[in-house]
Amino acid sequence: MATVVSEKPDTAKAGAAFLDSVRDDLAAVERLLQEEIRSDVRAAYAISGHTLSAGGKRLRPALVVLSARAVQNTFPARTIHASAGAAELIHMASLIHDDVVDNAEERRGRPTASAAFGNQISVLVGDYLLAKSIYLAAREGNMDVIRVFSKVTVGLSEGEVLQITACGDVDTSEETYYRIIGKKTAGFIAGCCEIGAMLAEPPPSALAALTAYGLNLGLAFQIADDLLDYTGDPQVTGKPPCGDLREGKMTLPLILTLADVTPAERRDLLCILQEPERLTDDEITQVRAAVLRHDGYARTAAVAQGYVAAAQASLCALPPSIYRDSLADLAQYSVSRQR
Ligand code: FPP
Ligand code: MG
Repeated sequence: MATVVSEKPDTAKAGAAFLDSVRDDLAAVERLLQEEIRSDVRAAYAISGHTLSAGGKRLRPALVVLSARAVQNTFPARTIHASAGAAELIHMASLIHDDVVDNAEERRGRPTASAAFGNQISVLVGDYLLAKSIYLAAREGNMDVIRVFSKVTVGLSEGEVLQITACGDVDTSEETYYRIIGKKTAGFIAGCCEIGAMLAEPPPSALAALTAYGLNLGLAFQIADDLLDYTGDPQVTGKPPCGDLREGKMTLPLILTLADVTPAERRDLLCILQEPERLTDDEITQVRAAVLRHDGYARTAAVAQGYVAAAQASLCALPPSIYRDSLADLAQYSVSRQR
C-alpha cells in the first residue's frame, strides 16, 4: 500500500502569519484529508497521495474555517472541518482534471498526476476524489454544504467548458474573461466563505458580506494567477512560464494589451498567436514585450488590487476579530504571493 508523505501547505512554508489563528483547525483538516483519500485500491490511493502531498495553499479549507470563526467562534468543529476537507477534495479533483485538459506537465514543481500516471487513470482518480468529497459532505448530513458545493462544482465545470470554447479566440472580451474566472474560481472561493458562514448560523448581513468577500477575493486570486503566468519565476511558481499563452488562453494581461495596440502591432500579434501550441521562445518574448509596452502587467495588477480592496471593504460588516483580520490579510496575500 502506498504511504502518503505529507508536506506542509505552501502557505505554511511561506510563513503566512494570517493563518496562525486557525493553525489547529487546518492541522485537523490535513489529518482528515490523509484519512479520506485512503483506498484499498492501490493506484487510487497513490495518485490521490501524489496530489495531496504536493502541498498547495489550502486556501479553500482556510476560508471555510476563517469564515465560520469570523461569524461566531463557537461552532460544531467536526462539521466545519469536514466541509473544509470536502472543499479541498473538490479542488484536488478539479486540478487533476484541469491538468489533463491543459496537457500540463508540472504543478507545484512536480510532475502532474497525468504526466506521472497517464490521462486515463488520472481522470478516474479525479472522479474518485470528487466522489469522496460528496461522501464526506453527505456523512455530515448538512444539506447546505451539499447544496453549495454541488452548485460550486456545476460552476467549475461550466467555467472550464466556457474557457475551452474561448481558447485561441483573440477577440475574447473582458466580459467573457470575467464570466470564465467568475465561474471557475470566484464561485468556488465564494462558496467556501458562504459555507463557513452558514455553519456558524450568521445574521443575513454577515452571510452576504462573506459571500461578497469571497467573490471579490476569487476574482483577485485568479487575475493574480493569470499575471503570474506571465511574470512569475518558474522555480517559485512550480509551473512552466507562459503556460496559458501556449494553451491559447486569453487572460487579462493579453486582453488589455490587444485592446490597446496599433493596427500594425495587432497584425503582428495575431500572426504570432495563430498557433499557440507552436510558439517559439522568441515569439513568447515578443508577446511579453508588447504586454509590457502597453502596461498590461501594471494594469492587470491594478485591477486585481481593486478586487482586494472590495473584498476587504466587505469585511466591515463583520464584528472585529483576529479572524476578520486574517481574512483581510489573506486577501492581500492573494495578489502579493509569488506562487
Ligand atoms: C485551474 O485553472 C483550474 C480550475 C480553477 C478549475 C478546474 C475545473 C475543472 C477541470 C472542471 C471539473 C471539475 C471537477 C470538480 C472535477 P488554470 O488552468 O487557469 O490554472 P493552473 O495554471 O493552475 O492550471
Ligand atoms: Mg491549468
